[in-house]
Formats: sequence, structure tokens, C-alpha cells
Amino acid sequence: MAGSFQLIKKMEGRSVIISPSLLSADVLNMERDIEKIEKEVEWLHLDIMDGHFVPNLSYGPSLLKALRKRYPHKFIDVHIMVEPAEAFTEMFLAERPSLLTVHAEATPHIHRVLQSIRKDGTPCGVSINPGTPVEVLYPVLHMVDLVLIMSVNPGYGGQSFIPETLEKVSALAKWRTENKGDYLIQMDGGIGPDNTELVVRHGCDVVVAGSAIFGKPDPVAIIKEMRVNAERGRQIGEKRNL
Ligand code: DX5
Ligand code: ZN
Repeated sequence: MAGSFQLIKKMEGRSVIISPSLLSADVLNMERDIEKIEKEVEWLHLDIMDGHFVPNLSYGPSLLKALRKRYPHKFIDVHIMVEPAEAFTEMFLAERPSLLTVHAEATPHIHRVLQSIRKDGTPCGVSINPGTPVEVLYPVLHMVDLVLIMSVNPGYGGQSFIPETLEKVSALAKWRTENKGDYLIQMDGGIGPDNTELVVRHGCDVVVAGSAIFGKPDPVAIIKEMRVNAERGRQIGEKRNL
């Protein structure tokens, strides 16, 4: 098993991780936006888009480099939506992400790509889009620290949550229990205070949220509300599995 022990340690006793997506931060004031929430979260989610695998462009390795320099101890959760994935992994690994997540659809060789990230010593994640069945993940679940189930079609912030993706999270939580798996389950897209309980109840451990947090007058209050709702979801989920 890959072992998400180090990742779980980063949770610092919190049962569910909130990972704010910098895609929704103000690009001209990113430092200011991060400072507002910095003490409230351990993780930051960085979306990399290539205008090819997804219909939008975002950031490149230079932003990761700058973030790593400015926040040497932050857990920077990098989600690359680029194709072919193997053409870009090295340039991101060089800038020391805390976790690098690649899409199973973005390469014919997902096993090899994950192997190369693991070889580098960096925790790795695998992701699938809403239209991809969860079964494609089973052959690589033993290699990953995190599985990212996209709950919108990747490319933009501010889209609506796709509820059909929840059953994939439940399947992964069940598989983990039955097979003594050791990965975190993350969801990304269309999540905010209103549906945090729902996703956590289904088995999500890491909640990514962009537009629900950034640009809001009190982002810390939103994160706190999400934590309260996440805890309620966790308790409901635990009871169900008894
Ligand atoms: C979508 C990105 C997400 C996005 C989430 O392609 O991977 O991380 O920023 O944004 P919200 O929370 O606004 O849906
Ligand atoms: Zn993302």
C-alpha cells in the first residue's frame, strides 16, 4: 500500500481536510487572499490546466515554485489537468508539491506515471472525471495516497455539483474498508457549506472548494461552517457503517 500516513498526519487531528482552490483566488492579490485563510487551513489546492485536456488555461510550475518559497511548510495539493500527463510531471515535481494528482484519462499509462511520481518520493493521487467509471481506478489503488473524484467537469470554478459522482466515493470508501486500502478520498467542484455534509457522509476525506471560499467577505467563517458540517457528515457516515 502507498500509505497516506504522512498525509493523514497533516490533518493535525482534524477528521476532514478542507483544501481551498487557488483557482478562485484573485490572481493580482493571491498572497493577500492566502493570508486571509492561512491559519485556518493546512492544505492549498492548485489547479493546473492546459487548454487541451480541459478547455481552459490556468497556472504553470512557476506559481508552485513561488508558493513553495513563500509557504515552505504548507501542504500544497497540486492537481494537474494536462495531457499527456507524463510530459508535465517532472517539471512539477521539481517545484516540490506536497502531493501530485494526475488524471487517469490523461495518459495511456497511468500505472507508469504513478510509478514515476512514487519513485521521486512525492505522494501521488489519481483522479477521474464525472463521466469516467470508478472501475478504471481499481488496478492502481494500491499505489496512491489519494483518489480525487471530480464532482464537476474540470476546467472552471463555480460550476454546479454533479450528484451522480457520490456513488463513486461510496464505492471507494467500501473498497478501502474491505481491502485495507490506505488512500484519502477527495472531491473537487461545486462544493460549499451547503453540501459538505453530503460529500463527507458518502466517504469524502478531503473537500476542495474554490468559489465558495475565495472572494467572499469572510472566507474563514465559510471554512469554519464547512468544518462543522463536515463533522456532522462524518458522524452520520460512521453510524451508517457500524
Ligand atoms: C475544476 C477545478 C476545481 C475548481 C473548484 O476544474 O479542479 O478545483 O477550482 O472550484 P469550485 O469550488 O468553484 O467549484
Ligand atoms: Zn482541482
